[in-house]
Amino acid sequence: MRHGLAFALGCLRNPRHIGAIAPASRALARAIASEVSRTETGGVLIEVGAGTGAITRELAASSAALDRFVVIERDPDFARMLRRAFPLAEVLNHCASLVDSIPIDVRQPVTLVSSLPLLSMPREEARRCEHAMLALIGRQPGSRLIQYTYAAPHLRPFHGIPPGWHWRRSASVWANLPPATVWALERVPSLTFLGVH
Ligand SMILES: C[S@@+](CC[C@H](N)C(=O)[O-])C[C@H]1O[C@@H](n2cnc3c(N)ncnc32)[C@H](O)[C@@H]1O
Repeated sequence: MRHGLAFALGCLRNPRHIGAIAPASRALARAIASEVSRTETGGVLIEVGAGTGAITRELAASSAALDRFVVIERDPDFARMLRRAFPLAEVLNHCASLVDSIPIDVRQPVTLVSSLPLLSMPREEARRCEHAMLALIGRQPGSRLIQYTYAAPHLRPFHGIPPGWHWRRSASVWANLPPATVWALERVPSLTFLGVH
């Protein structure tokens, strides 16, 4: 099935959980993959809310250096498509709020990519997903979260970030429908590391 049609059917099934009018463009997928490989040092790559796999495809192509690629998608039809298209990925068909229960060796950094429509999905579910994502990257040293939004480019994806973390705007992708902003949530660099004592 063509991705556009699969996406449209997904919107009909559950509009609030899709939260977009079209699959991610190649330009957006490339911007995210480029942010992922910016500090790629092995470890685990996790994508939540993978939908039709538009971003998954780009991540799979650039994730050779990673130890493990896990994909979480709550829609069973999308999850089936993803399993067929990405046999090397571990595709989990459940809510992203369980992302912090994936067993991962504490020495493995996690790069977490989120396509979750945090602004349109039910607020309580969004809050549970945000907490789980923060819990996961907080417990695995060297981890970070990459989230894209369709909101105004100055608006952070969500608030309630623990001390010692900050959002960095990674890219604005105008050639996407609608235009998107890619954000990275990462630890504030320590002053000692920068040579300031
Ligand atoms: C914006 S769409 C995905 C776009 C995807 N990048 C694409 O181009 O097809 C958001 C996806 O998040 C999934 N989703 C929404 N809420 C979720 C949740 N709580 N846990 C896991 N997946 C969720 C939806 O089923 C949908 O596939």
